[in-house]
This record gives sequence, structure tokens and C-alpha cells, in this order.
Amino acid sequence: MAKYIVEQSGPLHGVVEISGAKNAVLPILAATLLTDEPCEISDVPALSDVEVMVKLLESIGSRVSWDYRNKIITVESGKSLRNEAPRELVSLMRGSIFAMGPLLARTGRAKFPLPGGCAIGARPVDLHKKGFEALKATVEMGDDYIEARARELIGGHVYLDFPSVGATENIMMAATLASGTTVIENAAEEPEITDLAVFLNKMGAKVKGAGSATIRVEGVESLHGTKHTVIPDRIETGSFMLAAAITRGDLLLTNIVPGHVSAVMSKLSECGVVFEENDEGLRVRADVNPLVATDIKTMPYPGFPTDLQSQFMSLLTVVRGHSTVTETIFEGRFKHIGELNRMGADIRIEDRKAEVEGGQPLHGARIRATDLRAGVALVLAALTAEGETEISDIHFVERGYEEFTDKMAKIGANIRRVDD
Ligand code: UD1
Repeated sequence: MAKYIVEQSGPLHGVVEISGAKNAVLPILAATLLTDEPCEISDVPALSDVEVMVKLLESIGSRVSWDYRNKIITVESGKSLRNEAPRELVSLMRGSIFAMGPLLARTGRAKFPLPGGCAIGARPVDLHKKGFEALKATVEMGDDYIEARARELIGGHVYLDFPSVGATENIMMAATLASGTTVIENAAEEPEITDLAVFLNKMGAKVKGAGSATIRVEGVESLHGTKHTVIPDRIETGSFMLAAAITRGDLLLTNIVPGHVSAVMSKLSECGVVFEENDEGLRVRADVNPLVATDIKTMPYPGFPTDLQSQFMSLLTVVRGHSTVTETIFEGRFKHIGELNRMGADIRIEDRKAEVEGGQPLHGARIRATDLRAGVALVLAALTAEGETEISDIHFVERGYEEFTDKMAKIGANIRRVDD
């Protein structure tokens, strides 16, 4: 098993080019199942989660070619597709469930094992089920699978009890080929949903309102192939902003959309980080002001993203002052706290709130990445810790951060990836 060895590093300096968004490319790849014509997706990050989605599409019957050098994936999902997804792939990645809506719409039946993914909470699929049922599919739930069937999907009305990203995407995709109009209320508003809608509309779908809480999808007879470039990864963007902040560095981030990270920029500004937008990108300066603590609370977009909660907590651990971090999206997303405390942090958990006594000196330790985002949070903390930190289970990080150690080393981080 590979691990990271991280040593204390000075302020990070230089330019980081942000990759295409993992959470945009996964549903977009799944959406290619909606047509038998070829689709070409650009700016695809080389990540293990994308590999899983490619294998899943292949197992269903799609022909996929991945041009790594140019970051382009071409998918052709011919006429004969299998209706079932293999357990060994779905158990690796919760995002596999995105293929269910398009497969159901294309073939009239989809059976999926219940998905795996990061150990950050229960992650049920009841809202996906509710959406398929609103489209008049018959859905059966076993102990370890979900199966949906429909001779014909018929547009319907669905209110999501929580604005789930995955459920919104799944329902939106399935509705493109339903007869009549579907309305999704209390839909998730994340930029990845808007990107998926742009892709679907390029395929000939009629999706309106994506990016707001009400999405309307007018079903069409069939969809066609198209080309699309995915949006930049806002979570990678925020992670590098935090890398600049925690080391009091000065980074220029390119290939970003500042509007997608405004909550993070606001909270970092409260801490004293300065942002300068220019033609090349966004400069993040943490060497101008002394940094101070602030409170954060995760919320659905446009609120502060749960996917940056752990990385922000690493920053709050090292700046002076008391702060609270409230996690409202995933109940299991505080597992990194035990690891940060082993490095000398002073963080106490009360239910969904963490109380952070910032400014404790951190020291190197042998710790483990507890999920994808927590892995990066621990690397950030380790950059400030005295001595050497050894972080195991880094396969989590490689699910979601392209060329992570190369990008970090290039801006001055003292990090190595070693194979045991
Ligand atoms: C997506 C992102 C993930 C991010 C999350 C929240 C991808 C591949 N992953 O995950 O990085 O952390 O959004 O921004 O895009 N829920 C239910 N029932 C359901 C579905 C979800 O109760 O049927 C709950 C979940 O348990 C969780 C909350 O809704 O508490 C949010 O989950 P959801 O938005 O669905 O997250 P994902 O789509 O899995």
C-alpha cells in the first residue's frame, strides 16, 4: 500500500493548474448511456474514480477510449446494453449509481447493487428511488440492491426532501427520455448539476432551471452524440486555496471559476487571506495579514461545501483562536479529527459540531487518511507539523485529486509518495 511522507514546508509559492471536476465528469460519463451515438468529453482528470466509471460503462456494454495525454474520453453506448452493474465496481464508488437513471431511461430496466464510496455516512438511496417512482418506474429494494423497471417513463413531479446532488442528477438524466414534463423541486443547485444540464442539452435534451431549486425537464424521443469540456474542480480549487493559507503562501490558481468557490473565498477572507483576480487566474495570498479563526458550517450549494470541511478544519487547527465547525451534510465526516489530535491538535466533538482550539503546535505522526477529502486535510496539517508525518490509505486521495503529489511538490511542499 502506498503512503505519503510529508515534512514541514515553508510558504507554498507558484502556479497550480486546476483539473476538470471529478463530480462533473462522473455523471456526464453516465449520461453518455442516454444515446447510441459517440460522445467526446474533454478535460477529464486521471483519477481512480473515473477509471471505475469507465469500467462500469464497459461492463454495461459501452465502447470507451481514453486519451490520457489529451485528457479526452470518447464513449459509444451501442444498441445492446446490459441492465445490471457488477457489485465489485459499484462497491468501490458511490457515484456508480449515476448510471442507473440513464440506463433505466435507455433500456427500461436497471439493477444496481447498493453503492459504496467514502465512509462518511449512511448515504441512502431513498431519494433516487422516489425520483424513479415519480417517473412511473416500479422500484424494488432488496437488502443489497435496487432495481427499477418501466415499460415507459412518464414525466412527473418530485419534491426532494433534501437537495441531494446524486438524486437530482439521476432524476434529471432519466427524465430526458420520459414522455411529458418532469419537475424536480428542492433540487440541488451545485455547479456540477448545471454542467450536466449543459451536456444533456447539447445532446438534444430540454432541461431548464438547472442551478436553481426547480428543474423542469421536457422529455424528448431520443438524444444524440456531442462534445463537452467539463468545468474546473471547485473542491480541488478550494483545497489549494487552503494549502496557500495554511503555509502562509502565495499561489496563482489557473483554470478556475471564482463564482463556484465564493463561500470558501468569503470564509478565507474572514481569516485574513487576500484574493486578487487577474487575466491568468486567481492569486491567493496568505502572506499579507496575520490569519485568525472563523466558524464554518457546511450547507448545500451555494453554502460552504462539505467536501472542504476537513481541509478548512486543518487551517483552523493552526491559526490562533477558538472556532466551531458544524457538519450538516454527512454524519460521519469527522473521522479526521482523531488523526489531527494525534498530531497535537485540540479538537472536541459534540454531535455534529467540532470545537477547535487553534494555534496548538502540531508534530509529525503516523496517521491514516479516513476518506478522500480528509486525506488532503491531513497533508495540509502535516505541512505545518514539526518533523515527519506518515499518511497511509492514500488511495482515497487518488480517487479525487489528479497528480496530487506532483502539483504539491512543484509549489514547494515537502511530500513524497512511497510504496510499502
Ligand atoms: C455528491 C458528491 C460528494 C459531495 C456530496 C454533497 C459526487 C460524485 N459526489 O455526493 O462529493 O460530498 O454530493 O455535496 O458528486 N441522501 C439521502 N437519500 C438519498 C440521497 C442522499 O438521504 O437518496 C442524503 C445523504 O445521506 C447525505 C445528503 O443527502 O446526507 C447529501 O448527499 P448527496 O447530495 O446525495 O451526495 P452524493 O450525491 O452522494
